[in-house]
Amino acid sequence: MLNELLKERDLPELLTMSDGSPVTAEKWPERRKELLRLLEEGEYGKFPEKLGETRYTEKRRDRTCAGVAVTRQIDVTFPAPDGQDFTFPAMLHVPDSATAENPAPAFVYISFGFPYYTPLEELMDEGVVIAEFCMNSVAHDGEDNWTTLLSPHFYPDGKRPGNGTGKIGMWAFAASRLADVLLSLDFVDPSKLGVLGHSRLGKTALWAGANDERFTHVFSNDSGCSGAAITRKKVGETFPRICQVFPYWFSENMKIHSASIEASESAPFDQHFLLAAVCPRKVYVASATEDEWADPTSEFLACVAASPAWELCGKTGLVAPDRLPEAWDTLAEGNVGYHLRKGIHFLSRHDWIRYIRYLRGE
Ligand code: GCU
Repeated sequence: MLNELLKERDLPELLTMSDGSPVTAEKWPERRKELLRLLEEGEYGKFPEKLGETRYTEKRRDRTCAGVAVTRQIDVTFPAPDGQDFTFPAMLHVPDSATAENPAPAFVYISFGFPYYTPLEELMDEGVVIAEFCMNSVAHDGEDNWTTLLSPHFYPDGKRPGNGTGKIGMWAFAASRLADVLLSLDFVDPSKLGVLGHSRLGKTALWAGANDERFTHVFSNDSGCSGAAITRKKVGETFPRICQVFPYWFSENMKIHSASIEASESAPFDQHFLLAAVCPRKVYVASATEDEWADPTSEFLACVAASPAWELCGKTGLVAPDRLPEAWDTLAEGNVGYHLRKGIHFLSRHDWIRYIRYLRGE
């Protein structure tokens, strides 16, 4: 049944190189680069280059969560493309159980603002480190003609080349810089480093995780259009609509593929390329039953369509029965994970707990 549903989407081939030759396991790293290039060129813009060391300073440290954790407020500084330093605030939530002797799994959590969607006490009880930053302290989530925060460091004259990064790319780059910080801490287990975001920040987490191979686990919560959801025959939000309302999230070139539904359905990529670019690492997608704007079925089908990449590399992709998921299904056995929560567009405790279990390898 799932193969039939996928056929109807008429997706661009994942396992054919751009020169028409078949992708082999040996060629996977090369194919992955092609996928990233297609997504850079057509959708998000070039993923920024790291130009030097990331530094941080601690501003404040408090005991939190009834005294079982420490929250450190830090400023993270990295060299921007114009040669100047850029600094953004972040929070490190560290449970007492995370020590050099017992390093903990950790998430870079890209947030809408402190402390949205963050059930901190439960998260600390689960023993995971959370490093969070707010998108609006890196790049303003609105039209600013590239004049505020990180944007003018990329486009000092306000002009952007066709493949210049949009704001999703800037947020994703900041997620990688916060990963630099986490990876310098001895109480963090580098073999369990997740990146997570909800909705527009789920799109961002996928783009960060697709590019930065230090993220071992990549989590997309309700990311929908231009995130985990297949674009071809998607319901709810479409490329034309998302680019009309949020053009600054994407590259200028994305306008080519969002000019009409037909244009979006003949783009040389679809969103299963984004999930597959995480291979051979792990990617996990979650949907909510009432989130029609994001389109749970298209999010699930992207997991199915991306899975052959892992199979080619001798790993399991999504392990799922041959039917669409039902509410509360969790499919977390493979290197592609998925769950469908009942309810609305939200990042809930149910979602967090499943992500934590997946990150721990349970
Ligand atoms: C809007 C947008 C979505 C996005 C969502 C969010 O609904 O159309 O693409 O995912 O905002 O970020 O909450």
